[in-house]
Amino acid sequence: MPMLTIPVLLHTLVAEAADRAGFDNGLVPAEWAQPTQNPKFGDYQSNHAFRLGRAMKTNPRAVAEQINAVIADHPAVEATAVAGPGFINFTLNDSFLAAQLGRQVEDPHRGIAQSGQGRTVVIDYSSPNVAKRMHVGHMRSTIIGNTLDRLHRAQGWTVVADNHIGDWGTQFGKLIVAWNLWLDQAAFDRDPIGELERLYVKFGSEADDDMNAQARAETAKLQSGDPENHALWTQFIEASMVEFNRVYDRLGVTFDEVLGESFYNPVLPDVVESLKALGIAEDSDGAVVVRWGEDGPKGLADTVLVIQKQDGAFLYGTTDLATLQHRRDTWAPDRVIYVTDTRQQLHFRQVFDAWERWQPGHGMDLMHTWFGMLVLPEGAMSTRKGNVIRLLDLVDESVKRARAVVDEKSPDLDDNERAAVAEAVGTGAIRYADLSQNPQSNVTFTWDKMLSLEGNTAPYLMYSYARCRSIQRKGDATGSIEGLGVSGPYERALVMQLLRLGAAVATATSAHRPNLFCDYVYETANVFNRFYREERVLNAATDADRRRRLALVEATARVLGEGFQILGIEPLARM
Ligand code: ARG
Repeated sequence: MPMLTIPVLLHTLVAEAADRAGFDNGLVPAEWAQPTQNPKFGDYQSNHAFRLGRAMKTNPRAVAEQINAVIADHPAVEATAVAGPGFINFTLNDSFLAAQLGRQVEDPHRGIAQSGQGRTVVIDYSSPNVAKRMHVGHMRSTIIGNTLDRLHRAQGWTVVADNHIGDWGTQFGKLIVAWNLWLDQAAFDRDPIGELERLYVKFGSEADDDMNAQARAETAKLQSGDPENHALWTQFIEASMVEFNRVYDRLGVTFDEVLGESFYNPVLPDVVESLKALGIAEDSDGAVVVRWGEDGPKGLADTVLVIQKQDGAFLYGTTDLATLQHRRDTWAPDRVIYVTDTRQQLHFRQVFDAWERWQPGHGMDLMHTWFGMLVLPEGAMSTRKGNVIRLLDLVDESVKRARAVVDEKSPDLDDNERAAVAEAVGTGAIRYADLSQNPQSNVTFTWDKMLSLEGNTAPYLMYSYARCRSIQRKGDATGSIEGLGVSGPYERALVMQLLRLGAAVATATSAHRPNLFCDYVYETANVFNRFYREERVLNAATDADRRRRLALVEATARVLGEGFQILGIEPLARM
């Protein structure tokens, strides 16, 4: 049976009372009760009566009084009171809180509502262009996308993580020309993608008109199936995937599908034909375009999406339309999420709108989750300019810094353990540093900010989890939650905080903002650490106190562990 969360339960009590008191709940949309800002006002607050009063243009305070007078008794509720202009405040019952937390942490989903049960989401993220190394500019899509993936899975969604790699396009003609002119075979054998990148950059700085024409010819040959160029192209892709997978392995990222742009080539002519036949696309100077007039939808007025060029080549948007068709036919998803930087906002608006007209009634909720740019203090990064920070180098540097700290702080761990801790801390720090900021702001990359091990960072969270496990080891505790209860303000605050896990997951997912979930996990660590500072656990005054507090330590570890699973941070029992 699904657990009724406290915010829903309290709202239900208010709505039922409103009904008894003769008010029409239909006047305002349901809004769950919210935790109060100040414990002086109880634990939770409902503004339902206030909103009803406003909707009826009467005194909301009087409405709240009438409703409050007939709220039914419930074991969850210790007391209610009307406050301010018409809020109803709830003080919850301690044994109910403890029992509720017990149910939550014994549940395999840790009480997270399985609202995605039976629903499918395709998440298109990371999606780098091949033949270049991944640099820190690719980090955000990879990490934010992977966390949206984990948030959905935690709520029971069937997730198809699809890496839509850029494995097709004009860069291959350039690479082939550069390869034929300048390849250093020994360098390629040693470091394939490094050599490809060198060739690409060299082409960029040396190509003249003649070489550019050659590059176009090589692209055309590749696209018409020339076996030699096709073999080279395959080699480029394979080398790239080896490199990408190294990054993904380190960062805990896995995909269900890697269907690159090239996968959709065979159907692109049909896509264009179909759009033309339906009058959605039109010829324009020998090209084929989808056009939005001045009365077009918001953000699209007077814009154009080219789906076929004069020379017959298909484009990024054409592929994306074919991709949507494939996703619908293959997975019939309820939702498709694209995770890219802010510069692709117009692109996805155009693609989504064209798709809507092309395949009305497709039943998919299309979302573009964009994020701000990651820039270096000196400006934008570009492989061509050579001023990029490679993602693998970032990971290595982070792990190295973590290792220095571990060596200093944990001399008792053996060498292997220290290496494992450093890897977990270093990679966790990178993921968390990215996730914990508002995705939509631009971020200036600095090593120190990215790799900080103090304050609101993954290592701080990881230490809090390890502390739970260390207390249990020292106290020979079994890791059971028997004796769970609530006594005193610090225990109570901790229980209330742990009970909010499910709401935090739901909010971060619907807002597409993993940073909101980071806030929750950080606050949980803070509240736990405060409890641990203020109350003695192993040396508690009575046996009952000790048992109750040890049960709370175990409950905290389970909630933090679930949070880490979602953020992609490893829970270490010792560090
Ligand atoms: N390869 C693109 C880039 O590097 C991102 C692809 C995003 N996904 C998509 N279906 N368009 O900018």
